[in-house]
Amino acid sequence: MKMRILFVDDELRVLEGLRRMLYGMRSEWEMCFAESAEKALEMLSQQKFDVIVTDMRMPGMNGAELLAEVTEKYPDTIRFILSGHSDQHLVLKSVGCAHQYLSKPCDADTLKNAVKRASDLRKLLADDAVGRLAKQIRTLPSFPQVYLDLMEELRSPETSIQRIGEIISRDIGMTAKVLQLVNSAFFGLPRRITDPAQAVSLLGLEVIKGLVFTVHIFSQLKVDLANAINSDKLWRHSMNVGRLAKRIMMTGDGERDGDAFVAGMLHDAGKLMLAANLPQDYIEVGKMAESEGVAFFEAEKRIFGISHAEIGGYLMGLWAFPDNIVEALAYHHNPGLSAAKDLSLVLAVHVADALDHEFGNRDSGSIPQMDLMYLESIGFSSKLPIWREVCLQELQKEGIEDEQESSVC
Ligand SMILES: [Fe+2]
Ligand SMILES: [Fe+2]
Repeated sequence: MKMRILFVDDELRVLEGLRRMLYGMRSEWEMCFAESAEKALEMLSQQKFDVIVTDMRMPGMNGAELLAEVTEKYPDTIRFILSGHSDQHLVLKSVGCAHQYLSKPCDADTLKNAVKRASDLRKLLADDAVGRLAKQIRTLPSFPQVYLDLMEELRSPETSIQRIGEIISRDIGMTAKVLQLVNSAFFGLPRRITDPAQAVSLLGLEVIKGLVFTVHIFSQLKVDLANAINSDKLWRHSMNVGRLAKRIMMTGDGERDGDAFVAGMLHDAGKLMLAANLPQDYIEVGKMAESEGVAFFEAEKRIFGISHAEIGGYLMGLWAFPDNIVEALAYHHNPGLSAAKDLSLVLAVHVADALDHEFGNRDSGSIPQMDLMYLESIGFSSKLPIWREVCLQELQKEGIEDEQESSVC
């Protein structure tokens, strides 16, 4: 079935340019064009669109207001901004509603690849209900203590960008959002940023304040997850897997170790998403994992039809994280399903995850096992003793192992 895409721009020559530029895609895409936000909403009320690509500055309703309404009424629709740099304040207003930001002028390949990639991601989600949920997620909820620390720091007259960066680096959802934003085409940075503290310092204090107080980019975890998930352990495990995955990548050529940290830190973001949005069902996941002795991702599959791995990969893909990070999230429990055959992020995160569990950071239920057959098949099983050694050293460096020992449940 053809993808249905709606382009919105008040300048007719821009719409004409898009029509011409994307003419070659007409066998795969059904494209419609609206010259105002009001017209776009009318078209959306008459037919379903998979993707909307909108300008920001338009007379009447602007792009930010349009996307807010689309998010409410048609959460399934994937939402892109295609905007000029002068519209920064409007783009920042729509941060919560847009999945991706493209910058004008945008060449055909960039636009085609971004839309195609977002639509391909749908294949990751087998279950419609959870897929719809994934598309509605605007932010990943933040752990309450980190959220409160951030609010306090932002309101303090002596606040510093370093301190803000340090707080944001402690939270999975905040880290994902600032990295998404700073690496968007909109900011046009020459290289990809993988350090959340650096992302915060590039965005600057005023932008961060605006995002937090005006746009409400971060949301505090509202539900009590105590019965569904141990958020302290999830946080510690996520930070550890980030560090261990980075360390494993450094035993190779050292490239992409920043990506490895990000992939490791975000690898279980899908758990947070499922537990925060479907807390009652997630309590059942925990009970099933415990009573049947299966790993959490197995219990999730039985209850939701998919696991946190696929849903986390899907969300980060929609947010335009690079393919290698999306792949690492989506396949961290089943690396053999990925196409990776070398020292990849999938491999590093898979091994780091299993080692962190092996060293003591356990959920209830069984520990996710390392896929030794996969390691053997790609010729990496001989590396395991080295990886175990460097990972143990990494955790001992800051005495984290000791803390973990006392927190085993
Ligand atoms: Fe996981
Ligand atoms: Fe994990």
